[in-house]
Amino acid sequence: PDLKAMVGLPDFDWAARNYLPLQNYTYYRNGAAGESSYRNNLEVFGRYTFIPEVMNDVTKIEESLPTTILGHNFSAPFYISPCAYGLYGHPNAEANFVKGAAAGKILYIPSGYASLSIEEIHALKAEGQVVFQQLYLTTNDTETQSLFDRSKAAGADALVFTVDAPIFGSRHRAARLDVSLASGTYRHITWDYYHKLQNMTDLPIIVKGIMSVRDAKKAVENKVPAIVLSNHGGRQLDGAPSALEVAIAIYKEAPEIFNQTEVFADGGVRYGTDALKLLALGVKAVGLGRPFMYSNAFGQEGVERVIELFKKELAVDGANVGLGSLKDINPGFLNLSPNNWH
Ligand code: FNR
Repeated sequence: PDLKAMVGLPDFDWAARNYLPLQNYTYYRNGAAGESSYRNNLEVFGRYTFIPEVMNDVTKIEESLPTTILGHNFSAPFYISPCAYGLYGHPNAEANFVKGAAAGKILYIPSGYASLSIEEIHALKAEGQVVFQQLYLTTNDTETQSLFDRSKAAGADALVFTVDAPIFGSRHRAARLDVSLASGTYRHITWDYYHKLQNMTDLPIIVKGIMSVRDAKKAVENKVPAIVLSNHGGRQLDGAPSALEVAIAIYKEAPEIFNQTEVFADGGVRYGTDALKLLALGVKAVGLGRPFMYSNAFGQEGVERVIELFKKELAVDGANVGLGSLKDINPGFLNLSPNNWH
């Protein structure tokens, strides 16, 4: 299909479903078990409405997209979430994400289970490009130290430690087609262990996969520099809450958390309005997984197109919410009682 015909992020799901081999598409698309969390990630945004403001000067909103993530400058408050196995989307695999992110000036976080190695991915960075590195860790300290040292030597600017997958989730769609890539192991990593990890590297270690106010508080107590509210795209625990629900709970029960650590969120973000609802609560930037994996069917141009489309939607939607600047968004723009239109 023609890239110009892709007018929004869901179009890339359609394109990938039609043009990638079924196994490859299914590996990306799959959610855990009955896929309730996968669907809720997408549908939850429709249950919360804005409280828009009219008669504001919104003419300069596009200039307000740039933001910082852990002190690094980016052109927009969204990034490419770590997703395994880029080769399923395109022969150049993760090369298209690192180069696409450079062209669009957004953050890319390669997966520890990428098709290319840590060294190969970071070697493709543009001059001055900031790229983090996601890792899965075991309690094998020698292995961990080696992954930390390799990430640092390759030039990663921060590490992202994913904690929502102690064992590989039940994914029926992929299992039926025999494309379950990883098999599960239990890990024994606890908050005490986090301190040990942080002593093994001078890179900040972000914790990805927080799903409760309880754990967000523990992350703050344990001085985690940033957390990602995420249920792994609904691929791990079916029944896990969406990032929006967790962000609302944090806002209601412990809003100070948004100032005590940088809070990121991902899962089901497909429209500018989805991102705005998370940003309204205090989320600093949102991650997108599948839209980028699907866009790779078009190669680097597809990745760049998703970035361009999403920036445009953020500006258009922000203007219609009544924001003079994206930085003006706050919880007052969101109706926090869920509606039951559906
Ligand atoms: C993921 N995700 C993920 N997360 C992670 O920390 N390490 C990983 O290797 C992977 N691998 C992975 C593969 C695929 C195919 C998907 C779809 C997801 C989760 C990912 O980082 C992110 O949390 C979700 O993708 C966000 O949801 P959406 O945007 O895909 O709905």
